Amino acid sequence: MSKISLESENEVVKRALESAYCPEPIRYARQRQDEILGERLRRDMDKTGVAGFGIADIGCGNGYHAVQFAPFCLLYHGFEISPAMADSARPLWRKAGIDNAQIFVGDAAEAVIETGFYDIVLCLYFTPGNIRDRSDDLSLYSDAYLDRNPRFIRVISRFYDALKIGGAAFLTLYKDVAEAEAAQIDFYEHTGQRVVTPLGSRFVATAEGFWSARWTKDSVASNLDACGIRAEDIAFYDLNPIAWLVEVKK
Ligand SMILES: C[S@@+](CC[C@H](N)C(=O)[O-])C[C@H]1O[C@@H](n2cnc3c(N)ncnc32)[C@H](O)[C@@H]1O
Repeated sequence: MSKISLESENEVVKRALESAYCPEPIRYARQRQDEILGERLRRDMDKTGVAGFGIADIGCGNGYHAVQFAPFCLLYHGFEISPAMADSARPLWRKAGIDNAQIFVGDAAEAVIETGFYDIVLCLYFTPGNIRDRSDDLSLYSDAYLDRNPRFIRVISRFYDALKIGGAAFLTLYKDVAEAEAAQIDFYEHTGQRVVTPLGSRFVATAEGFWSARWTKDSVASNLDACGIRAEDIAFYDLNPIAWLVEVKK
């Protein structure tokens, strides 16, 4: 069990997301993630001729992707563990005139969702790397844990089940490279956190309870394999030297 509270983690996540400071490689990866997804949703909508997609967004934060993808959304369901983040989503949507978005507050690992309901599942801006069993004992997060993270597997298995056949999930991940680690540390330190992991660890943890893992292609494949996803259904798009957008087809 973790003594560092979830509230402390939620607070620093909110601060980082609202901060005007963002290291350039992280800012650019996010911009490319959004551009690629926007183009992809537009193309798929033109191709299928549907009025819009049912979208689930795991760890939706302040729900800004509902605003960004509104032209492509029949409905948007955000799943968010932090009540404070959820509270910032609703006014954002009201202001943007969005009335087909809903937010479910709680751990996505416990979400109750219907099989084959969504066309698109999103888990963006490095959220997949935040999903883990909470512990103060950082030795829990061994290479073996990161290669088969039970919490991540529980979340993604659930949402993969909730995808329609022909649907797709998109995950944004840090590559396990030194440049990504440097950008993570820069970001967290500039948003008032104290990094407690030694350089070269496969994740960065802070004294305030934030945790963010990086990935190799093998760790992506082995985690997704444990979700019942075949290697041939996974595609890696390079966002920049530090990040991938990973597509999982169903
Ligand atoms: C890096 S932020 C990304 C937010 C948003 N997707 C974006 O692109 O701005 C990760 C978000 O995931 C949420 N989160 C982390 N673990 C979660 C879980 N197990 N269930 C639901 N939300 C979670 C955090 O509270 C945070 O808002």
